[in-house]
Amino acid sequence: MGKPLIVTIDGPAGVGKSTMAKRLARLLGIPYLDTGAMFRSVAWKLGQGAWDWPEPKLEQALAGFEYGLSGEGEDSVLSLNGAPIGDEIRTEEVGMWASNVATLPVIRTFLKRAQQRLGERFSLVAEGRDMGTVVFPDAPHKFFLDASVEERARRRFLQLRDMGKPADRAALEAQIARRDAQDRNRAVAPLKAADDAVVIDTTAMDREQVLAALKEAVA
Ligand code: C5P
Repeated sequence: MGKPLIVTIDGPAGVGKSTMAKRLARLLGIPYLDTGAMFRSVAWKLGQGAWDWPEPKLEQALAGFEYGLSGEGEDSVLSLNGAPIGDEIRTEEVGMWASNVATLPVIRTFLKRAQQRLGERFSLVAEGRDMGTVVFPDAPHKFFLDASVEERARRRFLQLRDMGKPADRAALEAQIARRDAQDRNRAVAPLKAADDAVVIDTTAMDREQVLAALKEAVA
């Protein structure tokens, strides 16, 4: 078996990384790795305020975390200690908790190793904030998706509405902007495009156009 193929997709909150990663992974016949879900699951399991814990306590807690991955494309299943990670992590509140724990080097180092171990076992479309810059710097295909904060809030609003969860658009925009600012300005592995990433501004593009651009670059 050859070396696993790694494709990275980074970008800010709500830009559509997961949708694109799932679809590209389906086309390539490989799993997609939602690394945001890894940060969210840590934040969710440890609970609110864990970002203020002393490092040894965090290290001890993380020692009990084992991630697994199965399936491919949109059927990829990320599990933590044998149990699939569920929708309970998918709130904007847990997103902010994730952003808080994601500023801590001890958490980042732990998850980076876990992500790299998965990348040694599987070909992946890996999506997150630092996939192309830090975790998989040698990946042959790197993308950075961007869009205005207004457009990202609009997409998130429609997504939530379709799930029957009405939300306040202005509040969503403020939450997304706040989380982005923290992700872009943190000291360790800040959100940014790798020098060799293909940057795609999706503000005025629909999903099919973005997917076509990704497909063309990988082909
Ligand atoms: O992508 P998602 O919104 O699920 O990510 C939640 C949070 O996890 C992000 O706001 C970011 O702070 C953190 N994260 C990260 N590095 C990644 C993926 C996510 O710091 N590779």
